[in-house]
Amino acid sequence: MELPGTLRINERGQLELGGIEVTALAAVFGTPLYLYDEALIRDNCRKFCQAFRVKEGWSQVLYAGKAFLTTAMCRIVHSEGLGLDVVSGGEIYTAIEAGFPASKIYFHGNNKTYEEICLALEAGVGHFVVDNFMELETLSRLSAERGKKTPVLLRITPGIEAHTHRYIQTGQEGSKFGFPLAQALAAARRAKELPGIEYRGLHCHLGSQIMEINPYQQTLSLLMDLARAIKGNTGLVTQQLNLGGGFGIRYTPEDRPPSPALWGETLLACLEEESRKNKLPRPLLLVEPGRAIIGPAGHTAYRVGTIKEVPGGRKYVAVDGGMADNIRPALYQAKYMAVLANKAALPPSEEVTIVGKCCETGDVLIENIALPPVEPGDILVVLNTGAYSYSMASNYNRLPRPAGVLVNQGRAFLILKREDYKDLLRQDLIPPHLALK
Ligand code: LLP
Repeated sequence: MELPGTLRINERGQLELGGIEVTALAAVFGTPLYLYDEALIRDNCRKFCQAFRVKEGWSQVLYAGKAFLTTAMCRIVHSEGLGLDVVSGGEIYTAIEAGFPASKIYFHGNNKTYEEICLALEAGVGHFVVDNFMELETLSRLSAERGKKTPVLLRITPGIEAHTHRYIQTGQEGSKFGFPLAQALAAARRAKELPGIEYRGLHCHLGSQIMEINPYQQTLSLLMDLARAIKGNTGLVTQQLNLGGGFGIRYTPEDRPPSPALWGETLLACLEEESRKNKLPRPLLLVEPGRAIIGPAGHTAYRVGTIKEVPGGRKYVAVDGGMADNIRPALYQAKYMAVLANKAALPPSEEVTIVGKCCETGDVLIENIALPPVEPGDILVVLNTGAYSYSMASNYNRLPRPAGVLVNQGRAFLILKREDYKDLLRQDLIPPHLALK
C-alpha cells in the first residue's frame, strides 16, 4: 500500500510520521489521536499554487476551512500564500484570532445570519460569495450603513452533476445552494443597482471527492457564457471565476484522482480558450480545495480494545474512538485503509471489521480489512482522515474529542488539546428546582 507524505515503515517495522514512531506519539499524547503531517500540508498547498500558476497571476488558491480549521492550520495556509474560504462566524473568528488577513477571506454560506454578516464586515472580510437575493439586499444595506461597497461573487447553481455521493453533491439543479442559472442575470442586475455591492465575479461548487475533470470544464464554459451575457446585459465585468473545491483524493487503491498538476493545466487551458471564444478578458481563476490539502495529511491513531468473533465468522476489532471522531463511514459509507502501527511490516493474516465504541450499529470504521494478527493494545492508524473528521466530530455518548498533533521533522506539537470530562460539563447548567436538597 502506498503511504502518503512522511508516513513510512521504518527499519524496526514501526509506522512513523514526520520521523516519529506513531506508537511513541500515542504514548505521549494518548488515543484516539489526530495526527497532522505538516510537510505534506505544505507540499499540497505548493502543488496547487504551482499547478494553478498563482505566482504568475493566473489564479488564487483558497483553502476550504470546513475540511479542518484550527488556528495553527490558519497559520500554515497563510504562510503558504493561500486565501481562505469560510462558511460561518466561527470560522471567521478562528481565522481572525489566528491573524489571518481578513482581506484574503471569502465568506460563503446559504444562510449567513445578520450577526455573521456584521462580524464579517467589521473584520474586513475581503469577499462575500452571495447565495441568494435576500442576502444581496441585506448585505447591501449593512455595507452601505457602514459606508462600504462590499466585493461579491454570485454563487451559481450550474445544473451540472458530478459523480459523487448524493449527500456531497451541490452543483445539481434544485440544490439548496446558490442562484439557479435562470436567475443569474437578474442577480447580476440587482448587484449592479444596489449601493453597498460591488460585483466581482461568479462562483460555483459542484460537490466533493470528485475524480473527473470534465464537469469542471463544462462548468467553466457555462460560467464564461454567463459572464458574456452579464457583460452584454449590464456592462459588469467578471474579474473572478471561482470553481469551488471538490478535488478527490485517494482513500483506497481504487480511487484514482487527477493530480493537482493535471487539474491546473487542464482548467487553465480551458479558461484561456473560453475567454478567447467569448472575447472577454481572462478572469482570475479561484479554486477552493479543502480535502485535497488536508485529507492525505491527517491520520487517526486508535488503541485496539475488545476483539470478538461472532457466529458467521466475522471478527470485530473495537477501537477507542469511532463515529464521534470520524462520522464519514457512517454518514457517507466512506472507505478507508488502515495500518497497525506497531506491526506495520508484518504481512496481513486475517480479515477483520474495525468498529468504534459508540452505541450505534452503524459505528463501523472499516468493513473487512486484512491485517496482521490483531491484539488488544495495538495501535491502529486509519489513513487519510485529515479532512472532515475533526471538523465534523461530536461528543456523542459524551466522548471527549481527541487531541491533535502536528508532526514535522522529528518534532511534534499539540495543536488541539484533548477534551476532558470537565470540558463536557462546561456548558451544562442546573436550574434551581433541580438543586440537590
Ligand atoms: N468550496 C465550497 C463552496 C464548498 O462547499 C466546499 C465543500 C469546498 C469548497 C471544499 O470541498 P473539498 O475540496 O474539501 O471537497 N463533509 C463531506 C464534504 C462536504 C463538502 C462541503 N463543501 C465529506 O466528509 O465528504
